[in-house]
Amino acid sequence: MKKILLPTVTLLFSLSVSSKTTPVYLDPSAPLEDRVEDALSRMTLEEKIGVIHAQSKFSSAGVPRLGIPELWTTDGPHGIRPEVLWDEWEQAGWTNDSCIAFPALTCLAATWDPEVSYLYGKSIGEEARYRKKDILLGPGVNILRTPLNGRNFEYMGEDPYLASVMVVPYVKGVQDNGVAACVKHYALNNNEVNRHMTNVIVDDRTLYEIYLPAFKAAVEGGHAWSIMGSYNLYNDEWNCHNSRLLNDVLKGEWDFDGVVVSDWGGTHITDQAITNGLDLEFGSWTNGLSAGTSNAYDNYFMAYPYLEKIKSGEVGTEELDNKVRRVLRLMFRTNMDSSRPYGSMASESHMKAAHKIGSDGIVLLKNDGNILPLSTENKPTIAVIGENAIKMMTVGGGSSSLKAKYEISPLEGIRNHFGDKANVVYARGYVGDPSGEYNGVVTGQDLSDNRSEMELIKEAREVATNADYVIIIGGLNKSAGQDCEDSDRADMKLPYNQDKLIEAVAEVNPKTIYINISGNPVEMPWVDQVPVILQGWYLGSEAGNALASVLSGEVNPSGKLPMTFPQTLDQVESHRHGSYLGKPRNDGTPFVDNEYAEGIYVGYRGMDKNNFTPLFPFGHGLSYTDFKYGDIKTDLLENGLIELRLNVTNSGKIAGAEVAQLYISDPECSVPRPVKELKGFKKVYLEPGETREIVFQVSPQDLSYFDVESHGWRLEPGMFEASVGSSSKDIRSKTRFAVD
Ligand code: GLC
Repeated sequence: MKKILLPTVTLLFSLSVSSKTTPVYLDPSAPLEDRVEDALSRMTLEEKIGVIHAQSKFSSAGVPRLGIPELWTTDGPHGIRPEVLWDEWEQAGWTNDSCIAFPALTCLAATWDPEVSYLYGKSIGEEARYRKKDILLGPGVNILRTPLNGRNFEYMGEDPYLASVMVVPYVKGVQDNGVAACVKHYALNNNEVNRHMTNVIVDDRTLYEIYLPAFKAAVEGGHAWSIMGSYNLYNDEWNCHNSRLLNDVLKGEWDFDGVVVSDWGGTHITDQAITNGLDLEFGSWTNGLSAGTSNAYDNYFMAYPYLEKIKSGEVGTEELDNKVRRVLRLMFRTNMDSSRPYGSMASESHMKAAHKIGSDGIVLLKNDGNILPLSTENKPTIAVIGENAIKMMTVGGGSSSLKAKYEISPLEGIRNHFGDKANVVYARGYVGDPSGEYNGVVTGQDLSDNRSEMELIKEAREVATNADYVIIIGGLNKSAGQDCEDSDRADMKLPYNQDKLIEAVAEVNPKTIYINISGNPVEMPWVDQVPVILQGWYLGSEAGNALASVLSGEVNPSGKLPMTFPQTLDQVESHRHGSYLGKPRNDGTPFVDNEYAEGIYVGYRGMDKNNFTPLFPFGHGLSYTDFKYGDIKTDLLENGLIELRLNVTNSGKIAGAEVAQLYISDPECSVPRPVKELKGFKKVYLEPGETREIVFQVSPQDLSYFDVESHGWRLEPGMFEASVGSSSKDIRSKTRFAVD
């Protein structure tokens, strides 16, 4: 019987296979940088140009020939935007892309809890991943310089240290899903009016102490895989191709190895886009929200015009290769990482996360007579008044607008929670913005009501007169001129005649509660007439449930303000040197020069400088229990850190969480410094009677100021003061320590 020489056949077979070993760039076990270089070496010039600019409204090309997938981006910081048509802002009408709407980032910041921030990033990252998106266009961390900025609701407040601590876990949570965070809008994009044409003028000390830290933390602490350049200019260069911010600071000083993405319509000049650090161009010629030049992708500044410059020999390919390396690196970290998780969408855990972030971020500003938590003894009547008790807030506001799977309104949440334990009645109180549509997403609500203000207030007063409790739910909304992208507010007052409504209702019921739904501070001329006030933020899908859980005491409120509530705009430094918007050039160009003359005196730093008393201070937030603070003990550790320890006790009758805040003062410094600056905080959950030792560690860097001459941080020896408290104004314990 003829013997078949199997080994030869096997050998031939294996030889033929071995000549087709997996290319390095497709080998998941190969080192990242080897994969990048291998892929780069295989790409043609046209393919390289193809991956550094958009191919549709929210995607950029891959390399089909090499099996390198395209990149898909998605808004926004609070939830995953519905699918849009290829080259439109309008939604595409899919039926599988409704998301969980998470609370706005102002609410996240108000939790002062890095663990909650990680939960947020992980949850929203799972939804982005499930929707097959590779870059999440968020979080936003622009500092609140003016309470009028239309996009403050998307950001993390006025303090660079708070924003720096809270942005890192969010970025890590998103990226643990194999989805890139895209931290925005880098940098100095602190108002919406003239956002494309404002040239910000700011000194280096203010830049490094106030406006850069949160971005620096996102890069160095969070290892963000992408950053979004902002629309405005700095040093007379647009920030999507700004040599100082992108090349010198981001990629130089911070060693950023990710992708700089332009904002949509933020690219303006090919030569600068080539040399000044832009890596991926999106949305050219759009205003970021609506107008745009349809289907001009080959004419993008970094598309055909760039290719032509290379082919003509005008420019080389070194910058191009660097851009492509960064885009490839992001691909290998996302859509070419075969081990990344699969994500999930509108899951129970995401609903729970939205509820927790919301109920942990709600701030109890005032609770005279301990009217809250509401008692349901004898089945009370609860009168709910105000348009914001029923108005959907997840639709509108600009690019963060969503198509939510559901949104529990405050009134629904109160009815859900108090159901048969109370008699809940409603009155409109005021009519604000009855519309409800954005990019084809409709709320389905009919809020039209043509009654006069007088009639509405009369009805509200009647309802209030016969109720045991009145809950007025007002504030702002997501329409233009309120909390909305591409517009700023005209003033800090409540719109739609709400002040009159609130005064009229408070007059007839001593148990009036006002809940402010907004992403920005508002004036409250009636503050002394209203015994209970809460800052409710935009809370997303679980809004009503989160509010009801706090009103009922199921959740003991623990939020703290991430921004000062000034009494009036006159107290705000950026408004005390003329217009916060700067000055038009009046040279026939549309540019505006906006000098940040207030320098480092932003937020409470400005209030303290003038010794102003705010309506509610930065870091303020009450609880249904009380906390006692012990004395501070300080130690100088071997590693140069200064350790401050103190006990905090829950001296009340119910469990609760306290955010102990550490502020540092440098009264002997040779240069002017803020009266105090936040340099530490710890949120502790304590049972009644429980005491916990809190430990802060402060580094020499934390104690330093930015010295422009030496372009570095400087620590001057001398006596420093440490103040620990329940808010920036409610200091409970102080100590001094010497630094030599
Ligand atoms: C918008 C916004 C940006 C958003 C982008 C895409 O104009 O400025 O935050 O991510 O364009 O919608």
